Amino acid sequence: MTNPTLNDLEQLARQAGKILRAGYETKHQVDYKGTIDLVTEIDRQSEELILAEIQSRFPGHHVLAEESGGVDGDNAHVWYVDPLDGTVNYAHNVPIFSVSIAYACGGEMCLATVYDPMRDELFSAERGRGARLNGRPLSVSPVTDLAHSLLVTGFPYNMWSTPADNLQYFGRFAKMTQGVRRLGSAALDLCYVAAGRFDGYWELSLQPWDVAAGGLIAEEAGARVTNLDGKPNYVSPPQSVLAAPPALYDKMAAVIQRPNGN
Ligand code: IPD
Ligand code: CA
Ligand code: CA
Repeated sequence: MTNPTLNDLEQLARQAGKILRAGYETKHQVDYKGTIDLVTEIDRQSEELILAEIQSRFPGHHVLAEESGGVDGDNAHVWYVDPLDGTVNYAHNVPIFSVSIAYACGGEMCLATVYDPMRDELFSAERGRGARLNGRPLSVSPVTDLAHSLLVTGFPYNMWSTPADNLQYFGRFAKMTQGVRRLGSAALDLCYVAAGRFDGYWELSLQPWDVAAGGLIAEEAGARVTNLDGKPNYVSPPQSVLAAPPALYDKMAAVIQRPNGN
């Protein structure tokens, strides 16, 4: 079976990014998957293109993709595809969104790319070979204390109804840091940690395609990336993520582990 290269993922992400760029600020067909969880025809067009390319160039590979579910195939070759990460921003004409594609070989995430078509920023990583932004090597921020940090997080689509709404952690960090942002694209949140733009990121209730690519990019830039329980496999359920440079990671983990009410 043919293995893809990082260049293959980058080309795919750029092609899909063109679709997102062309559809940006046009009138959309919005469908609802949940109360506030929406999808546009552009999410679907982007996913169709990526899946068609993977199936024609890498037949037999297994694909997990957000809108269609993906393609059944060999579990030794698994793709994780989010054709439009930040779809609520997209539907509101907010220019913060991305295409996220990762490839795992033999059970380990090997290749990753996240493309922001509005800024023409292509984040990529190959396991063991570092992370890059438009070809330039990336490394995480040197900040080691929360008081000097700028963090980012997100909130789940079921936050109207779940007690795991992330508001308690948000409240804790908001009072200990320079700020907590909410960009609306988990893939970009992780890439911004890789680039040292944000010092740390956490979120609950994500999906594998939200974090597979950005997670490898952040790891390869020097971040420690786990789920909120400190377990290394943040791509499998229960899906939560904590990503930060190691010194800050420990401080963030301590805040998250505080008992309720503290
Ligand atoms: C969402 C974004 C958002 C995160 C949500 C995700 P989507 O993905 O990554 O930042 O907070 O949990 O579902 O729906 O825009 O692909
Ligand atoms: Ca997503
Ligand atoms: Ca999406």
